[in-house]
Amino acid sequence: MSLSLFLLLLSLCNIAAVSAVSPPFRPVFYSDTCPSAELTVRHVINRAMAREPRSVASVMRLQFHDCFVNGCDASLLLDDTPNMLGEKLALSNINSLRSYEVIDEAKDALEQICPGIVSCADIIVMAARDAVVLSGGPYWEVKLGRKDSLTASQEDSDNIMPSPRANATSLISLFQKFNLSIKDLVALSGSHSIGKARCFSIVFRLYNQSGTGRPDPALDPKFRVKLDKLCPLGGDGNVTGDLDATPEVFDNQYFKDLVRGRGFLNSDQDLFTDAKTREYVRVFSGNQSEFFKAFVDGMIRMGDLDSGRPGEIRRNCRLVNSRPVEILLED
Ligand code: HEM
Repeated sequence: MSLSLFLLLLSLCNIAAVSAVSPPFRPVFYSDTCPSAELTVRHVINRAMAREPRSVASVMRLQFHDCFVNGCDASLLLDDTPNMLGEKLALSNINSLRSYEVIDEAKDALEQICPGIVSCADIIVMAARDAVVLSGGPYWEVKLGRKDSLTASQEDSDNIMPSPRANATSLISLFQKFNLSIKDLVALSGSHSIGKARCFSIVFRLYNQSGTGRPDPALDPKFRVKLDKLCPLGGDGNVTGDLDATPEVFDNQYFKDLVRGRGFLNSDQDLFTDAKTREYVRVFSGNQSEFFKAFVDGMIRMGDLDSGRPGEIRRNCRLVNSRPVEILLED
């Protein structure tokens, strides 16, 4: 096979290429080179939570949006440059992803104590775990040793990241492309146990679900009245609502809400409408420890996504290190 044909096939199978690799990430990666790395990140997340409780949800979301687009490589954190449209302005991220400055704060703290050692990609994964723990969710050991990407792709993010309108069938097939099961999908959606979303993400289901000119029939009528007040037709799309009834506590309330027709996003509620995912919603709604176990498994599997591309340890998470091209090619 010619090199150009190979490269073309590789770009066509972009998603598969990410999921196929099983990377050698491991828990004790920084125990010699930066033993207090995890503690340092934990302190920063703690402070962020004290400043603004929602910020930890926003930080946790970064893992999903980073790992699904060419692996967990902090490509998400790169600012646009004159030669590169980064992922921050991609469809799912613009005016929506937030709290990048919390990752910057962790990176600054780590650069003070062990410069050039801890990748931004690992900071995202540690911070996401800490966000869950500090919100009352489960603890797990994170695998570490990721490299930061040398580039980012707005186009890849646009092509991959799911819309809040997505239904369970399309989400199942998206997650399967990353070797994530139906159970992983439902458990990971349970991350919506914390945080908020904009009216922009739900107005279609309040007033014109699937082009019917009617609301989503899966919505509990009382909940719909509440959402109609929050998000009137023609109102401000940037107004936010809670993703579940206990948006600062990581618990199984999200699943209880879905069972009652009180899911905020269409992509949430459809997990209970669709028979392929409903049973998991039911189990997690009745058994929080089953949810926690499945969530941890899913986060670890998602954290294993790796593109296998060359990388570096960025000094600043928003920029690639500037180096002569010859050194870059040697990596
Ligand atoms: C299954 C497919 C998913 C879809 C369609 C989806 C979609 C969304 C949307 C539309 C929002 C609100 C955005 C806005 O209105 O600005 C949101 C928020 C959020 N998502 Fe997801 N999401 C999914 C999976 C995940 C996963 C796997 C995670 C993490 C493991 C995650 C974590 C979060 C968090 C924590 C928030 C709240 C963030 C905040 O308050 O700033 N989501 N998601």
